[in-house]
Amino acid sequence: MENTEDFSFRDLPVQPEHIAIIMDGNGRWAKERGLERLEGHKAGAAAVLDLLNYMKKTAVKYMTLYAFSTENWKRSKEEVDGLMLLLCEFIDSNIDLMMKNDLRLLVSGRLYGLPEEVQNRLRSAMEKSASNQSGTVIFALNYGGRAEIADAAKQIAKEAFQGKIKPEEVNETLFSKYLYLPEVPDPDLLIRTSGEMRLSNFLLWELSYSEIYVTDLYWPDFTEKELYKAMVSFGKRNRRFGGR
Ligand code: FPP
Repeated sequence: MENTEDFSFRDLPVQPEHIAIIMDGNGRWAKERGLERLEGHKAGAAAVLDLLNYMKKTAVKYMTLYAFSTENWKRSKEEVDGLMLLLCEFIDSNIDLMMKNDLRLLVSGRLYGLPEEVQNRLRSAMEKSASNQSGTVIFALNYGGRAEIADAAKQIAKEAFQGKIKPEEVNETLFSKYLYLPEVPDPDLLIRTSGEMRLSNFLLWELSYSEIYVTDLYWPDFTEKELYKAMVSFGKRNRRFGGR
């Protein structure tokens, strides 16, 4: 764990309410150490666990973590199975910690497409933590930004066909009510680790006005101090939301 004495989240003049993170670089972290990719994901899960602990020191209310995309199914069966098992173990080992830290768990994505044992654990962890108030951690799982928009469009089309909504009522406000988590505010800050300058199909609608922070560090090396640095950078941004 980092020495936290030289910085304090409390000193930041502004803090984002919602941070979304593309946790990239687990594979490269492992490769540089001559390890299997799955070892990189395990180290990545350890960094997520750290985050569940230091989140309470911040004023951040929502953290959305891109843990498995709709495209990640293309990886080897060994890696996909390993990630699913890791997820199950993570929930089993850390739901008590989430309760202790008063954190609510939510999932964004096509939950029904995940293996049943993963779905069951997620559903029961979501139920158990539903009334926690201090913060919300969202795992984006089997998540794709285009899939989310297409799913919303499909539901709107269905309801229009049934006469529940009129096509002329469809606008941005109505559309966003059909996204996976309509009650969650849009991210103020997107963090991407391992240097890539891409959105990778993450929260395409919700990130429209988010500030972007990219670090070259691999996700397993992303510490509390690195989050602090990202938040300092965020504090210097002049957010105009398309205005002047
Ligand atoms: C990207 O690194 C990471 C993923 C696709 C999976 C993220 C999973 C974790 C952080 C661990 C488990 C998560 C939870 C919530 C317990 P990559 O494999 O694409 O890395 P590379 O680009 O270096 O190959």
